[in-house]
Amino acid sequence: MEYKVVVPAAGQGKRMKAEKNKQFITLDDDPVIVHTLAIFEKDHWCKEIIIVVNEKEIEEMKALLDSYHFTKILPLVPGGKERQDSVYKGLKALDNQGGITLVHDGARPFVSIERVHDLVEKTASTGASVLGVKVKDTVKRGAEMIVKDTVPRENLWAIQTPQGFHHELVVRAYEDALEKNHQGTDDSSLVEFTGQEVHIVEGEYDNIKLTTPEDLIIAKAILEKRKGGD
Ligand code: CTP
Ligand code: MG
Repeated sequence: MEYKVVVPAAGQGKRMKAEKNKQFITLDDDPVIVHTLAIFEKDHWCKEIIIVVNEKEIEEMKALLDSYHFTKILPLVPGGKERQDSVYKGLKALDNQGGITLVHDGARPFVSIERVHDLVEKTASTGASVLGVKVKDTVKRGAEMIVKDTVPRENLWAIQTPQGFHHELVVRAYEDALEKNHQGTDDSSLVEFTGQEVHIVEGEYDNIKLTTPEDLIIAKAILEKRKGGD
């Protein structure tokens, strides 16, 4: 199997409250974005990597990536205002290629190759799939701090990236969203909006997105666990 991956890394990482974009925070000597890209660099199924970078950080990112000698990274693509804008620019940089395209957050450095492959296989046979894990907490809907109802948990999934799509299908979904001025919270939601069925592939709880400072503590624990041979 083969795929290409678009890695949006052009955010500002505001919720992380670091003095720099969270992509550049170091974990075990390497920046977060390097951990993320190394997964795809190592994976033989992955043919090309598009990384979408904040316009102001292009030079810094280029210098960083050059020092790691990655071989699959195409010329850096400048990002947009929202994640959706950044991903769209990344997708367009891969145009007319067909095949399977994954979208994976630069801030998710722990996805395993096994789960990526599960996702790619499901995407090949269905057109669209996402990684997700079962929600562990009880989820309630509230209004003005009053519980309105408890949502049955059996069918609830916390959706992660990567999300995989037949290339034309996801580009069409992004263009449709642009035309209708529709904002979605993830790539899949734009594809769902076109009426396309999206499949869920069960992922792993380790595949966290580094969002707030306490996620860095979890990240360190995951790295320690992996060093222990797990
Ligand atoms: N992203 C992007 N372009 C944007 C916004 C986000 O490429 N305009 C990327 C981020 O760099 C990140 C991924 O999308 O890898 C997921 O977004 P999120 O976790 O929200 O990251 P940030 O937007 O950087 O963080 P925050 O929302 O806290 O500012
Ligand atoms: Mg954001």
